[in-house]
Amino acid sequence: MRIAIIGFGGVGKALIKLLIDKKAELLNEGMDLKVNYVIGSKGGVYDSDGIDLIKFMDYSLKNKNIFEYPCGGSKDVDFQMLLDYKDVDTVIEMTHTNITDGEPGMSHILKSLQNGFNVITANKGPILLQYNKLKKVAKQNNVQLGIGCTTGGALPSINSGIIELAGSKINSIEGILNGTTNFIINEMENNKTEYAEALKKAQDIGIAEKNPELDVDGWDTATKLLILTNVLMDENKTLNDVNIEGITKIKYSDIQEALNEGKKYKLVGRAIRKENGLDISVKLEKIGPENPLYVVDGKNKAVKYNSDTLGDLTIIGGASGVTPAAASVLRDLININRGFKYII
Ligand SMILES: NC(=O)c1ccc[n+]([C@@H]2O[C@H](COP(=O)([O-])OP(=O)(O)OC[C@H]3O[C@@H](n4cnc5c(N)ncnc54)[C@H](OP(=O)(O)O)[C@@H]3O)[C@@H](O)[C@H]2O)c1
Repeated sequence: MRIAIIGFGGVGKALIKLLIDKKAELLNEGMDLKVNYVIGSKGGVYDSDGIDLIKFMDYSLKNKNIFEYPCGGSKDVDFQMLLDYKDVDTVIEMTHTNITDGEPGMSHILKSLQNGFNVITANKGPILLQYNKLKKVAKQNNVQLGIGCTTGGALPSINSGIIELAGSKINSIEGILNGTTNFIINEMENNKTEYAEALKKAQDIGIAEKNPELDVDGWDTATKLLILTNVLMDENKTLNDVNIEGITKIKYSDIQEALNEGKKYKLVGRAIRKENGLDISVKLEKIGPENPLYVVDGKNKAVKYNSDTLGDLTIIGGASGVTPAAASVLRDLININRGFKYII
C-alpha cells in the first residue's frame, strides 16, 4: 500500500514512529507500506519508492524544515503534486482542526476521495462540517474514509458505533469525550486545588494547549459529540444546535460539595432522541456511582450508547496523547487493508 502523509505535527510524527516500530507486525498482516509523501505546510518529502522512514525521522529530529531533507525534500512537494502524480492508494490527513471552514483538511480530503484515494483522517473539522458529503464522494469513487481518530483518538467510539451497533437504532449518546478537561477536574479533586492551578499543571505537562479554549470551553467535546451524532444517528446537526458549557467556572468548593454527596463533576456531552427532536448538550454535571461515567478519571474518556435492540454499551479508556491518536489512525489503516468497509 502506497501512502501520503499530510501534516507532520505531533500525530504525524508519532504515526511515522509507529510505522517504523511496528514494521514486522505490519508485514505479518501482509502490509508492505510505502510512504511516498510526507507533506507539511511549507513543502515536503517525496520518494516514489517509499521514503526511508528511519533516516527521515532521524533527520527531522535534528532539523526543523523537512523540505530541506537531502533525499527528496523540496518546497515543491505539496498536495497538488500528489494529485498530479496519483501514485498513492491512501492519504492520511493530519493537519490542524479548523471548525469554521475545515480548511486545509477539507480540500485535502475531498480532492483525495475524488481522485480515488482512500482517506484516513485525525482531523475533526471536515468531518464535523461535511461528513455526509464526503461519505457520498467516497461511495461514488469506491474508496474508504476512516474517521476513527476524530471522536476521542484511541477511544473506540465512532467505529464501535458503526460496527458493533449495526442494525440497532441509537436512542442516546453520552460521553466524556475530552481528556484535557477530565484531567483538570480530576486534578482539582485529588489535590484540592482551584481551576487555574489545575489548568497550569495540565499545560506544564503538555496535556492542555497554551490556548486551551477549545477544550475548556467545551468546543472539542461538542465537536466530537456532533460527529458521533451525525454519523451514528443519521443527523445533520451543527454546533448551533448544541447547548455548550465549559469547565472554567468550576470552583474547588463545588467539587468538595459533590464529593460530600458521593458524586463527581464531569464534562458530559449528551445527545438524546426525544419526542420533539434531538436534545444535544455539553454540560458540567454531578454524576453518581450508578452512572458508568463516574469511574472515568484522569486523561481517560468514555462513550455510552443506548440503543433499541442492543441496550446499553459503555466503552471506557483511550487516554489522550499523540501516540494513542496515531495508533487509532493506524488501526483504521489496518482495517481498511483487511477489507473492512466503513463506507458501504
Ligand atoms: N494531538 C492529539 O492527541 C490528537 C488527537 C486526536 C485528533 N487530533 C487531530 O489530529 C490532527 C493533527 O494533530 P497534531 O496534534 O499533530 O497537530 P499539530 O501538531 O498542530 O500538527 C498539524 C500539522 O499540520 C501542518 N499543516 C498545516 N497546514 C498544512 C498544509 N496546508 N499542508 C500540509 N501540512 C499542513 C502543520 O505544519 P506547520 O507546523 O508547518 O504549520 C503541522 O505540522 C488535528 O486535526 C487534531 O485535531 C489530535
